[in-house]
Amino acid sequence: MDPDINSRSVAGPDGERWPALGLGTWRLGESNARDAQEAALVEHAIALGYSLIDTAEMYGEGGAERVVGQALARVLRQPGRAREQFTIVSKAYPHHASVAGLRKACEASLRRLQLESIDLYLLHWRGDTPLGETIAGFEALQRRGLVRHWGVSNFDRTDMEELNAMPGGTRCASNQVYYSLSERGVEFDLLPWMRERAMPLMAYCPIDGGALARHAKLGTLARPLGLSAAQLALAWTLEQPGVVPIPKAGSQEHLLENWRCLGVTLSPDTRQALAAMFPAPHRARRLAMR
Ligand SMILES: NC(=O)c1ccc[n+]([C@@H]2O[C@H](COP(=O)([O-])OP(=O)(O)OC[C@H]3O[C@@H](n4cnc5c(N)ncnc54)[C@H](OP(=O)(O)O)[C@@H]3O)[C@@H](O)[C@H]2O)c1
Repeated sequence: MDPDINSRSVAGPDGERWPALGLGTWRLGESNARDAQEAALVEHAIALGYSLIDTAEMYGEGGAERVVGQALARVLRQPGRAREQFTIVSKAYPHHASVAGLRKACEASLRRLQLESIDLYLLHWRGDTPLGETIAGFEALQRRGLVRHWGVSNFDRTDMEELNAMPGGTRCASNQVYYSLSERGVEFDLLPWMRERAMPLMAYCPIDGGALARHAKLGTLARPLGLSAAQLALAWTLEQPGVVPIPKAGSQEHLLENWRCLGVTLSPDTRQALAAMFPAPHRARRLAMR
């Protein structure tokens, strides 16, 4: 495999570089019986080169964080491995978005992850807690060194503008939203707004939850390029500036296929064919959510 693909990155906050591709973990940790097998898969992903891992207290009600924690604990005992090599992202439920709620939720996430800090801690979606209180909660966690950066998820442009206008709001490091070849709504207003501020967009469901892997026309376009439909969809997302896709893969084969997308450059003809098949939005759309 081309070693250069391991260093592909996207500009993050405070001059940091974030890995261009991450690993999703939704649906992991839902059954204790599968913990060992799933932790081995996460370890395999890390061995391939994945270093940004996205999880949430919601996934498997803490189970996904537990699985990631088990994998990381083993990896971090290997020679040459250090905590700083990883960008660990987790999320708090909206009903934990108060100062006290975030403190408790974050401490519990850290215990499950077996870590002392989370690199990026997100509000999973907007709830009833005033944004000012959530910012205060995130800042308190930062002061204690439990969280390096904070951000949000499932915020549309209006939500981002409101957040940005609040004291401390400009320190939001990222917004994680649904973005794929077949779900391009954010390109109309949210993504340009984030790009103006050099704020990376984390793209969840970049394979549309698996639907793009089964898309017949996409498969027909992908095959002569030596790619699968899922790979073509993911390669397209990886080409979008300031975007970090976080596909989930349940097998070693899919993990490798997705990782290899970092080495793919699409031709102008392919880009044009994709734009014809999945047109860019021409007007504002309601933010899609999973
Ligand atoms: N912030 C939020 O509200 C939010 C919402 C949804 C998701 N997320 C995050 O985003 C991550 C990704 O989203 P997602 O898991 O919903 O959807 P996704 O990554 O778009 O799709 C995952 C599906 O695609 C399949 N797949 C992956 N690689 C493949 C390949 N190379 N060939 C064929 N099929 C492939 C997987 O099957 P196998 O399992 O069989 O490999 C799985 O069924 C989540 O895991 C989670 O971390 C965040």
